[in-house]
Amino acid sequence: MCGIVGYTGVREAYPILIKGLHRLEYRGYDSAGVALMGEQDDALKVYKAAGRVSDLEAAAAPNDCSGTAGIAHTRWATHGVPNGINAHPHVSQSGNLSLVHNGIIENYATLRDQLKSKGFTFKSETDTEVLVQLIEYVEQSRHLSLPEAVRIALSRVIGAYAIIVMDRRHPGVLVAARKSSPMVIGLGEGNCEFFIASDASPIVEYTRRMVYLNDEEMAVCKPGEELNVVTLGNDAVNPDVKHVELDLDMLEKGGYPHFMLKEIFEQPQCLRDAMRGRLLTHHKRVVLSAVSDHREQLVEARRFIFVSCGTSWHASLIGKQLIERFCRIPCQVEYASEFRYANPVILPGDVVVAISQSGETADTLAAIQLAKKAGAIIFGIVNSVGSSIARLSDTGTYIHVGPEIGVASTKAFTGQLVILTLLALAIGYERGSIDKGTYEKLIQELDVIPEKMEKVLSQNERIKEVADRYCGIRNALYLGRGINYPVALEGALKLKEISYIHAEGYPAAEMKHGPIALIDENMPVVFIATHQNEYEKAISNMQEVVARKGRILAIVTEGDTVIRQFADNVIEIPDTEECLVPVLSVIPLQLLAYHVAVGNGLNVDQPRNLAKSVTVE
Ligand code: AGP
Repeated sequence: MCGIVGYTGVREAYPILIKGLHRLEYRGYDSAGVALMGEQDDALKVYKAAGRVSDLEAAAAPNDCSGTAGIAHTRWATHGVPNGINAHPHVSQSGNLSLVHNGIIENYATLRDQLKSKGFTFKSETDTEVLVQLIEYVEQSRHLSLPEAVRIALSRVIGAYAIIVMDRRHPGVLVAARKSSPMVIGLGEGNCEFFIASDASPIVEYTRRMVYLNDEEMAVCKPGEELNVVTLGNDAVNPDVKHVELDLDMLEKGGYPHFMLKEIFEQPQCLRDAMRGRLLTHHKRVVLSAVSDHREQLVEARRFIFVSCGTSWHASLIGKQLIERFCRIPCQVEYASEFRYANPVILPGDVVVAISQSGETADTLAAIQLAKKAGAIIFGIVNSVGSSIARLSDTGTYIHVGPEIGVASTKAFTGQLVILTLLALAIGYERGSIDKGTYEKLIQELDVIPEKMEKVLSQNERIKEVADRYCGIRNALYLGRGINYPVALEGALKLKEISYIHAEGYPAAEMKHGPIALIDENMPVVFIATHQNEYEKAISNMQEVVARKGRILAIVTEGDTVIRQFADNVIEIPDTEECLVPVLSVIPLQLLAYHVAVGNGLNVDQPRNLAKSVTVE
């Protein structure tokens, strides 16, 4: 997820673009760039820098930043590490075109090879540079106008994009188009100026008249002329001009009161992004480049060792169950902070899987440094492209859920679970340890998980009502069995870290070995009891709690008629394959923790004592 901004009109573009990038830094902040166009047919002025927008300002400051049209970008890397070369805008071979892009071009490698055969060369590792070169190729080879070249070129692209393109030979003209990534166009008075951005936050201080471009639409912005919008099929579109009322703070959070709630609701789209180009439903295949590039090491592995912390450690526990179930490879899960000092036995051929949202967690980094020295293969499952853990890994798979701003991890967790499922399926397929029927059934189910997740999210108001009854609690027990046991741990962690209530996750069957002494009418118990192998056992465990006056909030499978007979509160989730239940069963627990914390007036996005990335021991 990146932030893009464009301006064309009567004012100096640079200040508007830079201010707009600052408003969009929540969308990505590993590198940034700006391209400015003068009022004559003169060279583009392009300034780029690794790091934050402030680093770009420092890089651009000594230079000529004049011009009344320009485009700018703050990056969340997907292809190519964060540096000045990979930063946007990208410029075409002739130097005429420059382009900024938010999204992922899935077929960029094929397009790049085709363009190389036509004599194009590339400076960066990005999919975006392929796009600007493709537009130039179409424009040159077919002698088309810029808008026509953009339209034709995009018809050959597979993936997600929100782009702004400009051509120095056409001063003041910006061409914008989108598919699956957001884009808003602000209309200045009398069409004297246009503002383009990933969302309304960089625009709202200049104009509240906005057009939200729809998928596969393209707009041409030229001061003094009406906004011209067409479909990529070249059908005219009558733009729907809206009057945006939201204030700036709400806009940066996508209209949500907190980043955490925004990120909870982003999860269905994040899972689609995480699976894009990897879950090939029509081909009934899972394709992970990390597995094809390191097939023998992964498929022949004698052991997987997961090292991670916090929420990522909970994801690791589920990863263990997935790999052992579908690949029959023994796994162990270690707290990275313990592993790094345990003088662990690491055998040649061991695969050490490092799971980390930030990619900078000191304990996890130290753990893989130790494992690497001992000869293990390091497989990284990371969100932040180019982060330390990603760079130290021998191979791996990015989760592509975009920046996670809320300190309490939500979308990264479900993104990790989906990637772990894809990994288990890909390796299991290569090992022949998963039957074809199961493999294809899980592929189909993964494809519909985002919409099943949307169904759970639609219960937000109901979950808030339940949460309001829990605001006064001081303790809580979270219980689950099998694949839901790590979900119980994760749910307890969410409540702990944002509401400061002591909450403990436990394997449900383990209750009778001591913790059941805690149960009385003052000990709320959150029980994840979905329809799966140990369902009847879970019922028995719940009865043990009820017999001691415990109050139960149960997360159950849609249509369950048994548990609601004795649970105090019930939240239903759609049925799914057992290995995918955690992706859905964690959602009510995220929302429960969120609403309890908000109900108690706490700072949900920046809880006390916590940091988003623990880069120290
Ligand atoms: C999760 O909500 C916490 N913020 C924390 O436990 C986090 O998961 C842990 O610090 C690991 O971070 P990482 O995934 O970036 O390595």
